[in-house]
Amino acid sequence: MLRLSVMFPMGMLLFRTMAWTSSGISHSQLVENLRSYQATISAPHMHAHALECLKDHLYEGARALDVGSGSGYLAACMARMVGPSGLVVGVDHIRQLVEQSISNIRADDPSLLAADRLKLIVGDGRLGYEEDAPYDAIHVGAAAAIVPEELLQQLKPGGRLVIPVGGRDSRQLLEQYDKAMDGNITHTPLMEVIYVPLTDRESQWSGREL
Ligand SMILES: C[S@@+](CC[C@H](N)C(=O)[O-])C[C@H]1O[C@@H](n2cnc3c(N)ncnc32)[C@H](O)[C@@H]1O
Repeated sequence: MLRLSVMFPMGMLLFRTMAWTSSGISHSQLVENLRSYQATISAPHMHAHALECLKDHLYEGARALDVGSGSGYLAACMARMVGPSGLVVGVDHIRQLVEQSISNIRADDPSLLAADRLKLIVGDGRLGYEEDAPYDAIHVGAAAAIVPEELLQQLKPGGRLVIPVGGRDSRQLLEQYDKAMDGNITHTPLMEVIYVPLTDRESQWSGREL
């Protein structure tokens, strides 16, 4: 049977970002799959790049925060890097994505969840997650118009934040923020990128039933 498949720039469904695919064996199944795969996932090379930037801060026993944890893929990678004595918190503001990320990880490596090495939380990631702060590493998977002050505050002295910064329709830069032991913060622009916006839930879903 003909397998229908589409490649969407994500913006046609949610926002502009890297292309993704969905498929089905009938038109209705394709539409159904498109509806259920409204999750966004960053391009694999961006995940690899983020982990490369953060690797020295994702040591055994480290604490890390993944803002906009989506599918849970990157958060799970971080959890493996920090090991059994570390902790990773993933935050996404879409409840369905958080539920889906938990079932993805339960299917792949349930030990991460059972041992409390990885928490996946529904919330506004612009506020970070105070409860488990401070963090050695913070990754943000969506572009912020301005760097949220809460994230800089929740960074441990010696810690690193990697975040795309810029507007939906303007130039975005992946930026690195390092907090020195005396609390001083230095900022390093890394490269031009295109990410979905770090926004409020209502703007992201604009009128969709949640
Ligand atoms: C490109 S995806 C990140 C994908 C993720 N790195 C992964 O491994 O699947 C961006 C995510 O940011 C989330 N997001 C956008 N604004 C947010 C906010 N204010 N708080 C929490 N999550 C947010 C979106 O729901 C989306 O899941």
